[in-house]
Amino acid sequence: MALLAWAAFLAVPALGADGKDVFIANCAPCHGPDGKAHTPAGRKLGAKDLTASKLTDAEIRKQVTEGFKDQRGLVMPPFKDVLNSDQTDAVVAFVMSLRK
Ligand code: HEC
Repeated sequence: MALLAWAAFLAVPALGADGKDVFIANCAPCHGPDGKAHTPAGRKLGAKDLTASKLTDAEIRKQVTEGFKDQRGLVMPPFKDVLNSDQTDAVVAFVMSLRK
């Protein structure tokens, strides 16, 4: 019984989006939980230190939805099919908040 209640709780879709949660789940593997990209995948791919980024929120949104390609191919995946609009707004705001 307790187990079933837990499963039902997990199945409830999250209302609203928490930028930090979205970031930890989708971005931290490359950019690190603090955005500084001190992760093995971040170093290998050349992920940017987001605390030093100068992009505007519109540019961040574009990069998050479309991803980023360089001569090696897609180094940052596009998130347009992963994150909804609320989640994208929330994660963009979180990225802006990482700056000193
Ligand atoms: C597979 C690794 C990977 C993941 C996952 C990833 N990124 Fe990136 N990201 C990169 C790489 C590599 C770059 C550097 C490419 C470039 O020159 O912009 C980058 C660059 C960026 C930039 C540009 C910074 C600047 O100043 O130019 C932003 C903003 C960014 N990522 C945000 C995010 C956000 C937000 C997420 C999660 C929704 C995310 N990234 C997920 C690899 C990743």
